[in-house]
Amino acid sequence: MEISRNEELVLRYLLSRKSSGPVRELEITIKGLSDREISSAVSWLESKQLIDIDKEVNTRIQLSDEGLEFIESGLPEENLFLLLEEKGKVSVKECMESLGAKNGKIALAQLSRFGLKPKEGEISLLNAEKVKSEIDERKKFLQSVKSGNGPISEEQVEHFRKRENVITIKAQTTRLASINADGENYLKTHKDVDRIDFLTPEMIASEEWRGKRFRAYDLNTPVERIQSASKHPMTYLIDKVRQIFLSMGFREMKGHYVEYSGWNMDALFIPQDHPARDMQDTFYLNATKEFEFEHPEILKVLKKVHESGMEGYPGWQYSWNEKRARELLLRTHTTVSTIRYLYENKEPPLALFSVEKVFRHESVDWKHLAELHQIEGAVHSKDANISTLKWLMRIFYESLGFKDIKFLPSYYPYTEPSIDVVVKINGKEVELGGSGVFRPEVTRPLGLKEPVIAWGLGLERLAMIYYNLSDIREIYNSDLDWLKNFRLIP
Ligand code: PHE
Repeated sequence: MEISRNEELVLRYLLSRKSSGPVRELEITIKGLSDREISSAVSWLESKQLIDIDKEVNTRIQLSDEGLEFIESGLPEENLFLLLEEKGKVSVKECMESLGAKNGKIALAQLSRFGLKPKEGEISLLNAEKVKSEIDERKKFLQSVKSGNGPISEEQVEHFRKRENVITIKAQTTRLASINADGENYLKTHKDVDRIDFLTPEMIASEEWRGKRFRAYDLNTPVERIQSASKHPMTYLIDKVRQIFLSMGFREMKGHYVEYSGWNMDALFIPQDHPARDMQDTFYLNATKEFEFEHPEILKVLKKVHESGMEGYPGWQYSWNEKRARELLLRTHTTVSTIRYLYENKEPPLALFSVEKVFRHESVDWKHLAELHQIEGAVHSKDANISTLKWLMRIFYESLGFKDIKFLPSYYPYTEPSIDVVVKINGKEVELGGSGVFRPEVTRPLGLKEPVIAWGLGLERLAMIYYNLSDIREIYNSDLDWLKNFRLIP
């Protein structure tokens, strides 16, 4: 262990003083060091156990407003007593007139404790000796408090403590420092005054550091641990997912929270009476003004394919309502971004992905959220087929550390075939999302020439396994302990 020059100065001073004394005194006596430097040196010396610090608690008594006033114009009981000495008898009325209502009351109350109580409206002088000596004691006490020297009687402190607004009592802690045996020993065994604590540019230029000893760093000095800023576990996971797709050459797309039903549903061949379009499942916007539908040319196309299909495909066979396609909603899935992006960029081959938020009118429970993220993706290519899709899903989850993947047949109005992706972990099977090959009723009307495979996977479900959470809501609880110490499972 080494000590700094400042610490050494303080330690040497304490050695010369020997006896324990207030830290404040060091600040006054040690020249050339600021109060802060001294107090920091004292703290270091204390943590290095070279000095002892004791605490002394002192009470400080001061006069309050009335105490000051009583010194100026006499204690109320004193003034009443003087009046009694002069007249022998004083009526309550006279007392009040002479002392004022407030002090008059105090005087009466104080003197009545000595038996000087009003009888039939008059007080007579009694026990004069005793009263006089007590009043003298009280006056002396107030004087001593005022001057800050002279004896302080405990009895008087007790007395005035109970009287309102005469004195205030404050506790004051003084830190006392003294050098201990280890400190003395340290100074005996370390005599190198010529040591360099701080190397300055000037010292380097003048080379005066040559031949001198440097202060060593003490790597064992205890320092407080600080928590540096870190990524939120979800940000961490999102970045990881993005990295996987980007490294495979996928292009990242960004969509919008607010979408047209026409793009979110109709363009994906979801019939207008589909239960997922219900208000029970979807947040619709209460738009007061009608917005221009983006790419209105598709409305005609959608009407045709929904109502009567196309060559070889019968469509849904119902009367399609354009108004419903124009309604605004909070997107319920990011497949809306995929279909829009593909329409705006029709040239294959194209590999797309996004990790973005979607909204569902769900009641929140341990495995459902109303606001969640989807890992969306699609490949538009002549080579896109169900095997490519399964292969991609495997690669993706394997990159995250999940080796055991299962596919289940499923159904979505816009894909055929459709498969759900299930991850097996610790004997449990967790459904992570849907995927499939877009139906011709989706691709052909929008002018997409090659097959499209697509998927939409739950990010929060994945996070539950990834971070070993039993309740999906824990992700957004902002539990600081978890945020600081989260561990990855696979
Ligand atoms: N959009 C579907 C969902 O939200 C998932 C999906 C995406 C299914 C793409 C098939 C194709 O659950």
